[in-house]
Amino acid sequence: MSDIDAGIASLGDLGGKRVLVRSDLNVPLDGAGTAEVRITDDGRIRASVPTIRQLSDAGARVVVTAHLGRPDGKPDPAYSLKPVADRLSELLGRPVAFAADTVGASATETVAALGDGDVAVLENVRFNAGETSKDEAVRGAFADELAALADAFVSDGFGVVHRKQASVYDVALRLPSAMGGLVAAEVDVLRRLTEHPDRPYVVVLGGSKVSDKLGVIDNLIDKADRLLIGGGMVFTFLKAQGHEVGRSLLEDDQLDTCRRYLTEAADRGVEIVLPTDVVVDTEFPSGERDPQPRVVPASEIPADALGLDIGPESAAAFAAALADARTVFWNGPMGVFEVDAFADGTRAVAQALTEVDGLSVVGGGDSAAAVRQLGFDEAAFGHISTGGGASLEFLEGKELPGIAVLEKD
Ligand code: 3PG
Repeated sequence: MSDIDAGIASLGDLGGKRVLVRSDLNVPLDGAGTAEVRITDDGRIRASVPTIRQLSDAGARVVVTAHLGRPDGKPDPAYSLKPVADRLSELLGRPVAFAADTVGASATETVAALGDGDVAVLENVRFNAGETSKDEAVRGAFADELAALADAFVSDGFGVVHRKQASVYDVALRLPSAMGGLVAAEVDVLRRLTEHPDRPYVVVLGGSKVSDKLGVIDNLIDKADRLLIGGGMVFTFLKAQGHEVGRSLLEDDQLDTCRRYLTEAADRGVEIVLPTDVVVDTEFPSGERDPQPRVVPASEIPADALGLDIGPESAAAFAAALADARTVFWNGPMGVFEVDAFADGTRAVAQALTEVDGLSVVGGGDSAAAVRQLGFDEAAFGHISTGGGASLEFLEGKELPGIAVLEKD
């Protein structure tokens, strides 16, 4: 459909036109479904504002569609986008209408009432089973209803471009479509990581599961110079090296894969840096008891303890391994950063990224939230992606349906 480079301009004069924008407004909430609901990290809403404002300034009647969480294909107040629409209105500095459904009577009326430059948010698109259906016909029928609300489509939800879903993929087949500025910027930065990155290229991976990162490790083991591994996933690597990991997170079925990675990396001259010390406790932090953190060597995790962060010696080693990097990609926290006692490893990595002389990219999801929650200035990083799974799949070299569909003639 639209030329990938031309973006919104390829849609021509949008004055008075209804433009459906797929944004990723999937933000973490506290107290969802209650009167005290609070958005704990509005990064994705802020990242979505420029495209919405651009369309509004161009005189379009802007209809935003987005999801929140993973409701079961039917309405559930705990996943309502209403608080998100309210925050969007604050950030835009203008009223934002809210439709109580996605394609029903409320949506139709809300869209019909929009004037040029007005903005509306439709209720959670995943309240409709058609959105995520694997049945093309079911998904297509829902996409027809969405498409009927608009004259053009702008795909700006980078965090969902890896999903073949109605509001991401099918609707782009039904309307003149273009890539929004957020998706274009994300694609541009991630391409720089996959095509000729400046070296040394250092990748930091954390988060809980090795199994979530298999594709990206497979791909990066060829491209990166150094791979730093922390977070819950590191215990499977430590165990693969023959260490006992106590009650730490462990994926037994990935031990062989981790062994293979360690061998492959050694064969290819890729340095894998694992922690040499770990912060442990005997309980996962729950709020019911004060944490009792202890630093132990990574090779001597007590049988009754679980690792919750990389230790200070490892944090210093990770920072040193990042010091001469020219390109860095980081995805996944080093520990349970939400709890102060286990946040130092993540803080050290974030700090080291701010000092990189080159391109530093924070993959979305938890690492992006960590950077903000730990009080770092977002401007100190080269790029903070809004897409967790999407940025990983991009780096895995997978075709992302939400991008591929925009590149179709
Ligand atoms: C995300 O949070 O990574 C995106 O919003 C995608 O959400 P999903 O994994 O539920 O599709």
